[in-house]
Amino acid sequence: MNRVVVGLQWGDEGKGKVVTYLSRYHDVVARFSGGANAGHTVNYGSFKVIHHLLPSADFIRNVGIAIGNGVLLDPQVFREELVELRERFPGYSGEILVSENAHIVLPVHKEVDRKVDEVLKIGTTKRGIGPACADRVMRANVRIAELHDEKRVRALLKKNLSLKSFYNLTFDVEKALDDLLEFYNTIKGFVVSSLQMKRTLEGKNVLFEGTQGVLLDLDVGTYPYVTSMNCSSSGVSAGMGFPVKVDETIGVFKAYTTRVGEGPFPTELFGDEGETLRRAGHEYGSTTGRPRRCGWLDLPLLNYAIEVASVDTLVMTKADVLNGFEKVKVCVRYKDGKELLSLRDLEKKEPVYEVFDGWKSLESREFDRFVNFIEKETGKPIKYISTGERLEDIVEV
Ligand code: IMP
Repeated sequence: MNRVVVGLQWGDEGKGKVVTYLSRYHDVVARFSGGANAGHTVNYGSFKVIHHLLPSADFIRNVGIAIGNGVLLDPQVFREELVELRERFPGYSGEILVSENAHIVLPVHKEVDRKVDEVLKIGTTKRGIGPACADRVMRANVRIAELHDEKRVRALLKKNLSLKSFYNLTFDVEKALDDLLEFYNTIKGFVVSSLQMKRTLEGKNVLFEGTQGVLLDLDVGTYPYVTSMNCSSSGVSAGMGFPVKVDETIGVFKAYTTRVGEGPFPTELFGDEGETLRRAGHEYGSTTGRPRRCGWLDLPLLNYAIEVASVDTLVMTKADVLNGFEKVKVCVRYKDGKELLSLRDLEKKEPVYEVFDGWKSLESREFDRFVNFIEKETGKPIKYISTGERLEDIVEV
């Protein structure tokens, strides 16, 4: 059984924990998109791990991991996470696969990201994602597939350096080359072609892990305030390098909404109201530490994401954060009365709220009412509810 897990908002829905939990029902967790811009915090109970690149597999249960060609690999981050994996889980015996067609983020991409974001003001994570994707489609980037051939990598880096002069940036080709060759030595045992990846995953139960969220998808998200890849479920096949047959698409959403970086956010709360939600939910980025913008759940946006990503079932996270709130609001439509078929003009939408009595615990009637309402309004079953921070704090509904 192949499943896909995607975030239904602007990322940070708690997918890392959900994927790690669900991975026990799968042989492999595969990542198809994103890079070190993502940050998944998993609290195993006695310790916490934050991954940026490693798929969120349960390493205690030896679930395998696969990194598709759609993932951008930052060598330094990936190497550190592999070392951490060995140290934290010395007995880990899961399979590790890395597509040779995955692209590399070079240090200079992060410099370009900083410079470009001063002009574009998207509020990126500055992890070099956009510039590495741009070099990828410009056919000027280094992939894992090149790393076994020193001459080719040097030639590619030289071309890349020439392009960087457009940004008045420079870098030391020999140093970059040494770093990449050293990186290759640490990962070459895991590297496979797309065809080998396909053959290895065929017949296995694979959980495809989305990063970011549908609203940050390059094409169906709130462009230009998006990431540079297809992080919605439409990105699975392209990001793995072969058509993937999906049996179930699971959408994860928070009981409220957050966003980091710029861009429209109809239900955003400002001042004390926003701060209360931010504090209650510890809403600070796990990659950049930036305070997240916070607001109420937005059903028109949620329904847009569910439909565009062909979501079958839902997982709600962080409802416990709202424990003790006197009232909980949900945006049920916008004042213009129109169905949300497009994200164009989202910044002009004004929310109309339904106000719910708050709940003290997730076992209360008030919370049941909230859950039933969301199921009715989305037409999708909420299959799991995450009830706390730790991995096992999740209930099947
Ligand atoms: P980039 O992916 O670093 O280029 O950033 C583009 C936009 O996506 C910015 O608004 C980022 O804050 C946002 N973004 C990227 N990755 C994540 C994530 O994992 N969680 C939340 N927002 C993200």
